[in-house]
Amino acid sequence: MCGIIGYVGDQSALDVALGGLRRLEYRGYDSSGVAVVGAGALRTVRRAGKLANLEKLLSEGPERDPMPGTTGMGHTRWATHGGPTDQNAHPHTDCTGAIAVIHNGIIENFAALRAELEGIGHELTSETDTEVVAHLLEVELGNAAAAQAGAVPEDVAPGGPAASGAAGVPVAQHPLTAALRRVCRRLEGAFTLVVLHRDFPEVVLGARRNSPLVVGIGQGETFLASDVSAFIAHTREAMEIGQDQIVEARRDGVTVTDFAGEIVEGRRYHVDWDASAAEKGGYPYFMLKEINEQPTALADTLRGRLSADGAIVLDEERLSAQDFRDVDKVFIVACGTAYHAGLIAKYAVEHWTRLPCEVEMASEFRYRDPVLDRSTLVIAISQSGETLDTLMAVKHAREQKARVLAICNTNGSTIPRESDAVLYTRCGPEVGVASTKTFLGQVAACLLVGLYLAQVRGVLYGDEVAAYVERLQRMPDLVGRTLHRLEPIRELARGLADAKAVLFLGRHVGYPVALEGALKLKELAYMHAEGFPAGELKHGPIALIEPGLPVIVVVPSPRGRAHLHGKVVSNIQEVRARGARTIVIAEDGDVAVEPYADHLIRVPATSSLFAPLVTTLPLQVFACELALARGLDVDQPRNLAKSVTVE
Ligand code: G6P
Repeated sequence: MCGIIGYVGDQSALDVALGGLRRLEYRGYDSSGVAVVGAGALRTVRRAGKLANLEKLLSEGPERDPMPGTTGMGHTRWATHGGPTDQNAHPHTDCTGAIAVIHNGIIENFAALRAELEGIGHELTSETDTEVVAHLLEVELGNAAAAQAGAVPEDVAPGGPAASGAAGVPVAQHPLTAALRRVCRRLEGAFTLVVLHRDFPEVVLGARRNSPLVVGIGQGETFLASDVSAFIAHTREAMEIGQDQIVEARRDGVTVTDFAGEIVEGRRYHVDWDASAAEKGGYPYFMLKEINEQPTALADTLRGRLSADGAIVLDEERLSAQDFRDVDKVFIVACGTAYHAGLIAKYAVEHWTRLPCEVEMASEFRYRDPVLDRSTLVIAISQSGETLDTLMAVKHAREQKARVLAICNTNGSTIPRESDAVLYTRCGPEVGVASTKTFLGQVAACLLVGLYLAQVRGVLYGDEVAAYVERLQRMPDLVGRTLHRLEPIRELARGLADAKAVLFLGRHVGYPVALEGALKLKELAYMHAEGFPAGELKHGPIALIEPGLPVIVVVPSPRGRAHLHGKVVSNIQEVRARGARTIVIAEDGDVAVEPYADHLIRVPATSSLFAPLVTTLPLQVFACELALARGLDVDQPRNLAKSVTVE
């Protein structure tokens, strides 16, 4: 939520910032802006609307003068405080126009800070929470300059070179860094900040609390960004920035300190995908590309998960086998599509481990005071690893001494770092705002975690676990074959572009699939869509059925539990009897559904717990195609953002 890039090096900072923003636009796209320091000046340009508006302004408008300078930054916004106007777009500056700030997150005490600043004569020109930071920096730098005439203030060596020192050692630093540190200590809430100063073109600063920030380390150039995609075209060497830390980026490297001013070591890592992975690769939309990447994403997530001695391998495990054996209940916390992956996992975890498993929306988790202790395992699922609701749920769980295992797609992100164990979905970057390939990765990862738990707890024998994993590893092929036969659902979706609403029904693991199908349609096509357990329909929602209403039913395998299949077939008849137009997703060879399906979408047969890996595919394609038929942008649906870093 909000994309941020900062740069210091030898290239045109404007070009680097715009290039980064193009890759970050999925994080928020209601306004954007850039700032560049060069030739003794700080220039900012910002514009409401998508990035294209800013680019147009820079190439055609009154701002078309080149912005010379090799230190700069860019921001793409998802509005929280203040509407998406030019005035509220970032960067924000102080009264003197010397300091520019961009921000991701929410500064919760901004109203009090704003009142204080206005009380001492500062004029704030936007409705944002961000602008207070620029003015607070102005105050702090002014205080430091005044104090310099007398005593040197705490942790400041004005004008001194960037410090170097060993971890844990307090050092004197750049005056802008010292000022930012003092400002950060006063801020409450969540923030990633990037700061520039007209008089200090040698540095660009970043700070973070509860919001993402990574550093890109190039040859004679350094990048700060919300995620690595912003600088992957320039360097694949990255560094994590921890909680409550400030990074001072220079051409020749970085110094990282905590908010107390002590040097800390950032963890460096190599990004194992390149710029082409974050491009459309010939597809008109990222979403279409990502739907088609699902066989590979799934195969990569599952690769190498079974060790030579038949044990399941996680990625980072800071818990002992005994810790996992001690688990007596499981909670899964997640948001959006990841929550639906969690709902599917519940069926597998309970079936395989015989442990009770609850699935909770992360935003609700800590408010209901869940019963957690040392023997509770909390599984946090998040594509981005930055969703603030999920992160807060993780922190709450750990405070209560629960063990936390993260399932995440983004290496180096916050949620895995805050967890005791991690399993990465290796789906590659997902740019389309509505998740597709990472959902499949999350479902597969959850199944692996279920098997892992069953294995360490001795509920399943090693050969049983291995047999499940081997069957799971055959799923990418089935996913690929399913994707090749979805033309009928595309055609159907195009014909339903004018429908008012669509209902989705399912039972067992088909129920979360129905919820995911409905969510996709809401997100992409802005249509009223609801998912229901097929059995619950008669307890109310059936009143919604009217002649011609499209109802999509996810049918379980007739080879699974016979009564489950039979009941869903009855539910199809119930809605059809009331005039619904039935669209039935059923496996090959399921003839029982044929008399009741107005439209029959066939998927390959698979075992019950793995079925969501194929039954979800027609629903993704349905929503995407219907939205395209309505002329909508499926990569950047209105009001949404890919990574939601506010609560
Ligand atoms: C946003 C996105 C959803 C995503 C959810 C959770 O709402 O629009 O597509 O499922 O966040 O994101 P996460 O990164 O935690 O999986």
